[in-house]
Amino acid sequence: MTQPIPRHPDPGSTGTEALDDVVREHMLLLRRAVHGLGAYRRPEALDRSAVLLLARLEAQGPMTMAELAAAFGLDVSTLQRQIGAAQRAGLVERFRDPAGGQARLHRATDAGRAALEGELAARRAAVAEVTRSWPAPDVAALARLLRRFNEGSEELREQPWPRERPEAPGAAAVPAGTARLRFREMTEVDLDVLAGLLGDPEVMEFYPAPKTRAEVADWIASNRRSYAEHGHGLWIVETHAGAFVGECGLTWQRVDGEPRLEVGYHVAPVLQGRGYATEAAGACRDHARDVLGAPELMAIVHPENTASRRVAEKIGMEVLEEDRTGVDASYLEAIGAEARIVLGMRLA
Ligand SMILES: CC(C)(COP(=O)(O)OP(=O)(O)OC[C@H]1O[C@@H](n2cnc3c(N)ncnc32)[C@H](O)[C@@H]1OP(=O)(O)O)[C@@H](O)C(=O)NCCC(=O)NCCS
Repeated sequence: MTQPIPRHPDPGSTGTEALDDVVREHMLLLRRAVHGLGAYRRPEALDRSAVLLLARLEAQGPMTMAELAAAFGLDVSTLQRQIGAAQRAGLVERFRDPAGGQARLHRATDAGRAALEGELAARRAAVAEVTRSWPAPDVAALARLLRRFNEGSEELREQPWPRERPEAPGAAAVPAGTARLRFREMTEVDLDVLAGLLGDPEVMEFYPAPKTRAEVADWIASNRRSYAEHGHGLWIVETHAGAFVGECGLTWQRVDGEPRLEVGYHVAPVLQGRGYATEAAGACRDHARDVLGAPELMAIVHPENTASRRVAEKIGMEVLEEDRTGVDASYLEAIGAEARIVLGMRLA
C-alpha cells in the first residue's frame, strides 16, 4: 500500500487549470444541468426564487421577512416581491408570531410543500437520468464535493444553509464495528501513535523505509483528503475499549496504470497474530461491497509478505496478476522486488 491516489487522476488539470475547469463546469451546471431534460420537463415547474424560498422555510421553519432577507443576502424590497408572488400563488402564507412578537412569520402552505416536493422529485429524476450509468459511490462523491463547495461559499458569505445531516451522506461512514474492533477517522491527534506504528522497521519491512514523523503527518493529511474526496481512506482500528490496534481501510491505488480500490492494513507488532488484521479487513470488504457499492477489491502485496497475503486470502481474495508499473522502478528497487503481487475478488 503506497500513498493513496485520486480516483480519476488528470495530470494536465492542476492549479489554475483546475480552477478554470471548475469555473466552466459551474457555469454550465447553473445554466442547464437538469432543466429541460425529459425527466424534469413539466408544465407546473416552480421558478427558482420560489423553490429556494420554500426549501428554506422547510429547512428552517417559519421566518420573518428580515430573517429571510439576511438568509438570502437580498434587499427587503426584492424579497417582498418574491414573497408576494409566492403568496398570490398560494405557496406561502403569513401569520402572527404565536409567541406574541410583533413580526409576521412566513411559512409554506400545504400547496407550497406539495409543489416543492414535486419540484424536488422532478430534479431527482433528472439527476438520476444524467448519472444513470455511474457507480453509486461516484454519485455520493459528487454530492460530497458539491456540498463542500457550497458550504465553503456559504461560510465566506456568512450565510449558512441549515442542513439536517451534519455531513453529506457517506462522508463520515466508517466500516461497522466487529466483535473486537471498531473504526474511526484518523486525525492529527493520532500523529504519535501512527508515527510509532509506521516508523517501526518491523512493520515497514516490505516498504522502502520506515516513515519519518513528517511523512506520517503527510500520511494523515492524505487520508483526510481521501475521506473528503472519496468518503473512505485508511481508518484507525481500535478495540471497543479504545486501545490502538493499527490502521486498515480502503484507498485507490494504481495497478498497471489503472486506479483500483485496495484494502490495506498495518497492525501494531505486539498485537499481531491474533486475527485482528483479518477481522478489520473483512469489515472493510463488507463496507466496500454494501456501503460503497464497489464491484471489486484488491490487495497489492510484496511477494515475500506472507502475512499480508494470508490476510487477503482469508477475506476471500485470490492471486490475479503481478504489477510492475503501478509504482516507479525505484520503488520496486527499494523494496527489493521485481513486481508486486495483486490479489483480488469480485464484490458484485
Ligand atoms: C500483515 C499484518 C497486518 C497481519 O496482521 P495480523 O493481525 O497479525 O494478521 P492475522 O492475525 O489476521 O493473521 C492472518 C494470517 O496471517 C498469518 N500470519 C501472521 N503473521 C505471519 C507471519 N509473520 N508469517 C506468516 N504468516 C503470518 C496468520 O497465521 C494468519 O493465517 P492463518 O490463519 O492461515 O494462520 C501484520 O503482519 C502487519 O502489520 N505487517 C506489517 C505491515 C504490512 O506488511 N501490511 C501489509 C501491507 S500490504
